[in-house]
Amino acid sequence: MKFLDTIEERLLKELNPKVKLVLKTGKYIVESGGKRLRPLFTVLTCGMCGQEPERAVPLGVGLEYIHVASLLHDDVVDGAERRRGKKSANLVFGNGVAVLTGDYMYAKALHLFSTYGNVEMIKLVSQAVMDMAEGQVLEISKVGDIISEEEYFQIIDGKTAVLFGACFGVGALAGSCKNWEKLYEVGLRIGRAFQLIDDALDYEGNPETLGKPVGNDLKEGKCTYPLISVLELLDKEEVKKALRGLSDYETLRQKVIELGGVEKTKERAKKELKMAKEILKGFPENEYKKDILGLIDFVINRNI
Ligand code: FPP
Ligand code: MG
Repeated sequence: MKFLDTIEERLLKELNPKVKLVLKTGKYIVESGGKRLRPLFTVLTCGMCGQEPERAVPLGVGLEYIHVASLLHDDVVDGAERRRGKKSANLVFGNGVAVLTGDYMYAKALHLFSTYGNVEMIKLVSQAVMDMAEGQVLEISKVGDIISEEEYFQIIDGKTAVLFGACFGVGALAGSCKNWEKLYEVGLRIGRAFQLIDDALDYEGNPETLGKPVGNDLKEGKCTYPLISVLELLDKEEVKKALRGLSDYETLRQKVIELGGVEKTKERAKKELKMAKEILKGFPENEYKKDILGLIDFVINRNI
């Protein structure tokens, strides 16, 4: 993909803390891979809107730093041991170093926005991070409980979708697009689809290709879309027991798969992407838009 090398280069170049351990921890997570969907969407949206896509590279890099910061924090919150096929940073460097490196990367992102962006973008991005933190807290507060579809979308909009929304919003603003709110919605819907697929993969993905174990959500007591979509076919008391660690979550995981929960989740993700594509019809046809559409297809077909 065009721009990927430029993004990778800039991701490492902008990471320049004075303290070696911050650099080591930051590099550890940045170099462990990642699909770079957020910076790619940012740069391509700017190009689609008619401005030089390169001008959005440092902004896309900032958004990837925010994503990485959120993963560093999330792995501490979840007590995770694996991320992107390697030991998680909290396991290697300790919780304190992982959290503080996350703080560094988040502040670095805002610094990049103050240099290469504008106040409107900073407003958009900082609102997204507030929503992310709220989404995460909401998720934690519901651990062990059955939640409604509405609550599920409130959680995933916060923890994942708003950052994709911000990528499209920032790309549109960098591309001088007056209609940037529409593109924010495109990102929001792509982000929802992304998290729905993530939740489907947690039920039946391959831990080797995913780089993290599967079945984690149920194990951690999280009620996600695959389960919600087949809930009416299940005994709710049994489900609660599994979510609270009082019965075997593996049996429930198999049942959800057998009842079609994973398929239903993928269908729901497809619906979001269809709506995203519908909105995109109102924007210029060019090579950048073609690449955006290609990445959307990747989101739905991914197994990583
Ligand atoms: C992974 O979810 C977590 C996120 C997508 C968002 C985490 C957000 C925060 C910690 C708040 C924002 C903080 C900063 C510093 C920007 P998951 O646990 O469902 O997925 P996983 O299996 O990949 O861990
Ligand atoms: Mg997690």
